[in-house]
Amino acid sequence: MMFEFYLLTFLLIIVCFIVIASLKIGISPMPSSKASQKIILEYLKQLNNSNTIIDLGSGFGTLSIYLAVNFPNRKIIGYELSFFPWLISIILKKLLRLKNLHFYKKDFLKENIKDATLVCYLYFEGMKRLENKLFEDSINTVIISNTFSFLNIKHKKKVYTSNLYQTPIYLYMT
Ligand SMILES: C[S@@+](CC[C@H](N)C(=O)[O-])C[C@H]1O[C@@H](n2cnc3c(N)ncnc32)[C@H](O)[C@@H]1O
Repeated sequence: MMFEFYLLTFLLIIVCFIVIASLKIGISPMPSSKASQKIILEYLKQLNNSNTIIDLGSGFGTLSIYLAVNFPNRKIIGYELSFFPWLISIILKKLLRLKNLHFYKKDFLKENIKDATLVCYLYFEGMKRLENKLFEDSINTVIISNTFSFLNIKHKKKVYTSNLYQTPIYLYMT
């Protein structure tokens, strides 16, 4: 009985940390749905290049893991600001022994994201900040965005998931 109480308290504290971090960052670590992941994978297969893929805000790491499994010969990097989702992602990476996958607890806005294919599932303000970074750092690359679009950059393609939510997945080439 006592053990359950401590476990529940511990889990509640973790949830509180995740909620507080989400409020500070502006978005929760909600993972892309399976349907969205499949469209992102299809886009990446069609592009047919082999450069590094960066997941901008990797959350619990599920999208990055899915990509690392599907592209065993490509390097996949995930940047995540929120501590517990990042911790869970590195535990999953270790358990699955994915050598081509790397998670960093870092703000991607402060990192060099040039020369990589970018994937993201952010929020309105996050997309604005990313768009500014693309202009400031003169980044010319491919960006795949789940749900949210850029304000000024025009998408090359837009595909909706076939599930209930009909989520748009945007393809950009800057
Ligand atoms: C909705 S989740 C997406 C998770 C994963 N990319 C996916 O599609 O399954 C967005 C994540 O981005 C993270 N995030 C937002 N801005 C960030 C930044 N500037 N640097 C690093 N992570 C960021 C949030 O903490 C959140 O966990």
